[in-house]
Amino acid sequence: MQTRVLPFTDDAITEAARLILAGEPVAVPTETVYGLAANATDAQAVARIYEAKGRPSFNPLIVHVADLASAEQIGEFNETARELVERHWPGPLTLVVPLREAAGVASIVTAGLGTIGLRVPAHPAMQALLRAADRPLAAPSANASGSISPTRAAHVLKSLKWRIPLVIDGGPTERGLESTIVAATGGPLRLLRPGPIEWGAERMSGDTIEAPGQLASHYAPSKPLRLDVTTAKADEYLIGFGAIPGDSNLSPSGDLVEAAARLFDLIHRADGSPKPRIAVASVPCKGLGAAINDRLRRAAA
Ligand code: TXA
Ligand code: MG
Repeated sequence: MQTRVLPFTDDAITEAARLILAGEPVAVPTETVYGLAANATDAQAVARIYEAKGRPSFNPLIVHVADLASAEQIGEFNETARELVERHWPGPLTLVVPLREAAGVASIVTAGLGTIGLRVPAHPAMQALLRAADRPLAAPSANASGSISPTRAAHVLKSLKWRIPLVIDGGPTERGLESTIVAATGGPLRLLRPGPIEWGAERMSGDTIEAPGQLASHYAPSKPLRLDVTTAKADEYLIGFGAIPGDSNLSPSGDLVEAAARLFDLIHRADGSPKPRIAVASVPCKGLGAAINDRLRRAAA
């Protein structure tokens, strides 16, 4: 299948919505990473996501909707859940909540679970597509299963070329890290995946692996990766941070927001360099650094 790349325009969204309603998956930018979106009410369309990604079918997908009202038609929000999303939606937060019986979402989306991950994204391209298709859209990150999440259209092409009909190119994504996932399924809120939305340590109990995407090797590049490096060996491509320059630098000024936004981009770059190994300078664990280090440890596993 020929993969077209169209810049984000009204016409591109119209074409993307047409493909979605015809049951095809389309790659589209969100503020976190590029997603591979399909009509969540059409089991066959969703199956094409799994097919394109080569993804193990036990992994449930995040469903994207245009607003909280649409989310409440699919999932049940208790007071704490509603309070949380009112503060962070639209934005890089996914809430796992109990699935409503009449939600109309294909069971392949939740891998048969009684809960569902819902997100209202802020990116204008994904928002426009949600409104044009007028359907909830299931969208995992737009990369082949087990490889690094895409933060640019070129990354999507690298792993999904010939496998999907269309990529909407909205430039590099702003956040660069997948959404924070929080479960609100009864009892206290639980952090399932750290991400761009910082979560107070006192409210965290992220020790249990509940999201399959938390598997240690989920974010692995194709080369071995060494962490907390100050001096690279001759055969290593060094991703620097702050005062450690490296072959490229996550953020010369030590800004963690900039580092998060560039993380997957630089891992892609290191993966594509002639050097057989990757080294990464140490990144402090405070604030967004916790999510960055989480992704780095997985990439090194
Ligand atoms: O930023 C993001 O979240 C991106 C963009 C495209 O929105 N999407 C993304 O999706 O990262 P994906 O499929 O790569 O990761 C989804 C994660 C997986 O770890 C999955 O196991 C978890 O969400 N998940 C989804 N539904 C769940 C549920 N009902 N219970 C527990 N975990 C769930
Ligand atoms: Mg992913």
